[in-house]
Amino acid sequence: MKKGVFIVLEGPDRSGKSTQAALLKAWLEEERGRRVLVTREPGGTSVAEKVRGILLDPKSEIAPLTELFLYETSRAQHTVERILPALRAGKVVICDRYTLSTTAYQGYGRGLDLKTVDTLNRVATLGLKPDLTIVFDMPDRVFGQRERLRGGRDRIERAPDAFRRRVNRAYKLLSRRPGMTRVDAGRPIEAVQADIRGRVARLLGK
Ligand code: TMP
Repeated sequence: MKKGVFIVLEGPDRSGKSTQAALLKAWLEEERGRRVLVTREPGGTSVAEKVRGILLDPKSEIAPLTELFLYETSRAQHTVERILPALRAGKVVICDRYTLSTTAYQGYGRGLDLKTVDTLNRVATLGLKPDLTIVFDMPDRVFGQRERLRGGRDRIERAPDAFRRRVNRAYKLLSRRPGMTRVDAGRPIEAVQADIRGRVARLLGK
């Protein structure tokens, strides 16, 4: 039985999710007295981090269907080994990306069949669904600006601009689904964090 709370942060590359995850964890622990696990996909366990290495290595040549299975492989291990035990222990789990990334990147971005993606998402998660998914909305041009600041590109970030635009459009569409909440991630870090805390506070109640 799940006792904890499962929060997923989603959105395009370089939309600031990991910074926001760290700030949210500090607030939940210090102000709300919650125990928190921050984790990420692909990755989050020793085996899943190895799969991440394969997926993001610019030297890997990976067919779209193989890419889909690798993301789901990482997810299955991560869900069983880390997320479910943390939820059973009553923790708040903040996960940087989960199933919506696969729908956006492999479904809409790579053009794989959306029903197949949904099915594999369901299998890899053992049916686990987030309590809240926060979708970071960011204009396409911000990626270029943030890239100049950070530099370096992994295999997915090297994909053509058209791929990134398809992914970004998909996120805008998907953020309207039930259970999703959208934040404008083009603003200063503190403003984005304030929005996120407001949504999470509503989810957790008093
Ligand atoms: P990140 O940790 O920088 O977000 O890198 C992960 C990359 O993998 C990012 O470009 C998004 C991509 N990705 C997918 O294509 N499908 C997925 O299911 C997940 C979780 C991530």
